[in-house]
Amino acid sequence: MSSPDAPRIIVNGRECASVDVTDRGFSLGDGLFETIAIRNGAPRFWQAHAERLVDGCRRLAIPVPSIDELAHELECVRDGSESGTARITVSRGPGPRGYAPPPEPLPTRVVGFYPATTPSNPAQRFSLRWCETRLALQPALAGLKHLNRLEQVLARSEWSDPAIDEGIMLATDGRVVECVMSNLFLVVDHTLVTPALDECGVSGVMRRQVLEAATCLGIHTEVRRVEPPEVERASAVFVTSALRGIVAVERIGDLQYSSHDPVVQDLIDRLETLDG
Ligand SMILES: Cc1ncc(COP(=O)(O)O)c(C=O)c1O
Repeated sequence: MSSPDAPRIIVNGRECASVDVTDRGFSLGDGLFETIAIRNGAPRFWQAHAERLVDGCRRLAIPVPSIDELAHELECVRDGSESGTARITVSRGPGPRGYAPPPEPLPTRVVGFYPATTPSNPAQRFSLRWCETRLALQPALAGLKHLNRLEQVLARSEWSDPAIDEGIMLATDGRVVECVMSNLFLVVDHTLVTPALDECGVSGVMRRQVLEAATCLGIHTEVRRVEPPEVERASAVFVTSALRGIVAVERIGDLQYSSHDPVVQDLIDRLETLDG
């Protein structure tokens, strides 16, 4: 009998934990993924995850998988669990050696359920550092949650201190983009500011929820270029991800941020009311 903590994985609709070695997701990183929080027995913000996946497939000319089929497979791997983490990976599928995409790709879909949850504790506050590794500017891939994550792997290798929760990443031209595994928001003069992601970065599902929630709450919002000094003079900073929601930042290096900001608290409260 398998352990209740073991991941459950379906590949192309079949219970199986392996993928063909000629799969372009494995050999070239030619694919996309979604990491989804399972909460109260349902994938949280499913619609937004599905939309980002479909948009990514269209932009990369990967045949779009059936969202109904993926939802069904997610239900199978979840197998009644109330909480946990799901990951959907869609690659262009197997192909001969070389970069040229096969003329008629047969995409591979992997749907996994991981019973362990990522703690999402509204009281938790993160300590951040500035990363040395920079993100390359590439508008053709900007916003996508694609399988090429070597920049994040290098950035995450920069620290092993368990007191550091996240690292801020700049682009090669010095602008602030996001964190290693989350998006970044600032409160500057009562305005919610987040870096534009039209040249690099992952357009997070939770980032989208926060921007929508801010509009509903009448919070003035700016999505634009951000330089490092602005982060340092912000009155509050927080990070977002689908798994953790909003996490307020306590410090970046030696710089401390206030423990309570009304804009951040209103957004946290608002998101808690959304079922997703
Ligand atoms: C590089 C990067 N940016 C942003 C995010 C946040 O995206 P989401 O809100 O969809 O989890 C993630 C999440 O894994 C990420 O890896």
